[in-house]
Amino acid sequence: MRSLTRRNFMRLGAGSVAAGAAAKMTLLKPAALWGEGREVAASDRVRFAAIGTGTRGCQLLEASLLVPGIECVAVCDLYDSRHEAAQETLMSKVPATRNYREILDRKDIDAVIVAVADHQHRRIVVDACAAGKDVYCEKPMSHTLEDGFAMIDAVRKGNRIMQVGSQRVSSIVYEKAREIYASGALGEVFFIEGSSDRNSPSGAWVYPIPSDASEQTIDWNAFLEGAPKRPFDAARFFRWRCFSDYGEGLAGDLFVHLLSGIHFISGTDVAPMRAQSSGGLFRWKDGRDFPDLIETFYDYPKFRVALRCNLNNAGGEPIRFHGTKGTMEIIGQTMTFIPQDISPKPETYSVLGWPARLRKEYAAQWKLDHPLPGPLEYQAVEAETFTAPEGYSDVAAHQANFFNAVRTRKPTVENEEFGNHAAIGCHLANYAYFKKTIATWDPVKNAIRG
Ligand SMILES: NC(=O)c1ccc[n+]([C@@H]2O[C@H](COP(=O)([O-])OP(=O)(O)OC[C@H]3O[C@@H](n4cnc5c(N)ncnc54)[C@H](O)[C@@H]3O)[C@@H](O)[C@H]2O)c1
Repeated sequence: MRSLTRRNFMRLGAGSVAAGAAAKMTLLKPAALWGEGREVAASDRVRFAAIGTGTRGCQLLEASLLVPGIECVAVCDLYDSRHEAAQETLMSKVPATRNYREILDRKDIDAVIVAVADHQHRRIVVDACAAGKDVYCEKPMSHTLEDGFAMIDAVRKGNRIMQVGSQRVSSIVYEKAREIYASGALGEVFFIEGSSDRNSPSGAWVYPIPSDASEQTIDWNAFLEGAPKRPFDAARFFRWRCFSDYGEGLAGDLFVHLLSGIHFISGTDVAPMRAQSSGGLFRWKDGRDFPDLIETFYDYPKFRVALRCNLNNAGGEPIRFHGTKGTMEIIGQTMTFIPQDISPKPETYSVLGWPARLRKEYAAQWKLDHPLPGPLEYQAVEAETFTAPEGYSDVAAHQANFFNAVRTRKPTVENEEFGNHAAIGCHLANYAYFKKTIATWDPVKNAIRG
């Protein structure tokens, strides 16, 4: 019997780790935020307003309370009860309006957070840039391809800072993943997969409609700007994601997070080259325009990406990078790097069809060709899990990055170009799905062919 060398032990270790056991756990330490732990003078504070204080707008306001050196001085929404919700979140009776132009006219406001339904992003971002405000705009950046390029023009023309709201890009977990990817520890990565699967009415956007919703409490006509006119319809107002007049379905809502994370980690600064989609509307047949299952295969210059959103099974939101030397998996605020066992091994499979004399000869030669390494050549290759501390908020980190950029005038990582590339990925997925074709991105004409 051969003794268990460190190298053989390593082989066993890597194999067993690949089967699921993580060897080492590291708690990541968030970087200190600007202004943390000290009183920021009023003159150093960034004053902002929130336009759109629905579900996401209120989440963003809540997270903004964790970011030092900023102050929300006004809120805006088309639905009156959302003024109240925003003020409750801020624990302050800041001025509230239905008309975002009143906010843009104020000279004491540096920046706006835009968290309105997607079809309204372009108009508000373009107007905000023209009014000299920096903009945090929720994901997906654009409702249409044209919207994205119009927003880029507006940001450049106004010399503004813009950040798009896929908060993973500011997460310490994604930062670590980006570091591991860049280090080459994964080897060459040719395939990346991600999914976002849910199984509940809320996950399928069947949100409840509040009892006071009416044309008196909601400025329905303002909501319809940029969309076809139609009589008041509360379902369309509260469940806008289901309708192509206002949203982009699963691709715009959820692929965009997966794509933003993948682009950030892999350092991708282009839109996908091609997309092919499959799927269907199987279960949530409530008059919506979009499928409840979509799978898209993307071609990028150096790798392929497979994404899936399924509203019919709660599978969570994993992203996996499959490299020639290891696999990296991110689930929520935890990332695990699992090395693959690529140490040389003698062939045992195909030689089964060889006579014993040839097998023996091969085994002897293999041993000669692969001497065991010396004691100092052993290298531990272990799985490692990295996780964010409890209570860590990548939403607050993302806002901190935005407000720091507002101060320093240095572009954010998830700027208008980045946001547009991820959004183009969403538009390609929908184009391929609805037209039953392969959608090809033409970066010269900024158009989809197919
Ligand atoms: N980053 C994330 O994880 C995340 C999560 C949820 C939503 N979002 C994004 O945030 C945005 C808002 O989503 P939501 O879930 O909060 O929707 P929501 O329907 O809950 O809220 C949107 C609000 O925007 C308001 N609005 C629409 N047009 C307006 C206008 N012209 N002026 C002022 N207010 C206007 C509506 O009145 C509504 O209250 C969307 O772009 C969505 O994709 C991002």
